[in-house]
Amino acid sequence: MLKLAVLVSGGGTNLQAIMDSIDDGRITNAQISVVISNNAGAYALTRARNYGVEALLLSPKSFDTREEFNEKLLEALREREIDLVVLAGYLVVVPPCVIEEYENRIINIHPSLIPSFCGTGCYGLHVHEKALARGVRVSGATVHFVDEGTDTGPIILQKPVMVEQDDTPEVLQKRIMEQAEWVILPKAIDLIANGKVHVDGRKVTIDE
Ligand code: GRF
Repeated sequence: MLKLAVLVSGGGTNLQAIMDSIDDGRITNAQISVVISNNAGAYALTRARNYGVEALLLSPKSFDTREEFNEKLLEALREREIDLVVLAGYLVVVPPCVIEEYENRIINIHPSLIPSFCGTGCYGLHVHEKALARGVRVSGATVHFVDEGTDTGPIILQKPVMVEQDDTPEVLQKRIMEQAEWVILPKAIDLIANGKVHVDGRKVTIDE
């Protein structure tokens, strides 16, 4: 059974999609051991409590130095013997010590088709504003492993979503969540939990 830590900063609809998928069998061989947030007001923490899993508040602001926070985060993952770290709308930079120890065991959901509309500063609604400003007809979402760069790690799954003429960033964001993010994030976790994902450098292969 793969032990998951889900790291969140906001509403937690992707966390909800993971919980629902575990309940209805779309994800097998995995359980959520802890939900960690940097934000005390994150509704994701309430979702975790309602679901009956540990909700842990760990904010860089509560520590004197960033190093202390980094150590605490790593310790929290170690103590719970976490196998896979899932970033589901986590707005804190994952420390290098965690990335090193959890190589190819941290995944992130990004709301565009990487390498479009990603990188530093490209998060939340900004992603969709940029996509609309560029006039793309298709956007989507990507699940990727996390390396030391921003949105640069090996790509696991992508799903395209059509852009409509009168889309606002908010409308496009919602469509991408519903049609892509809530589908491919649980799917990627299930594939990893069942040993079907293999990484070789930047290339990911998935067993049929
Ligand atoms: C999602 O759009 C995700 O792609 C991005 O942050 C947002 C999180 O939403 N990384 P939620 O907290 O899962 O509702």
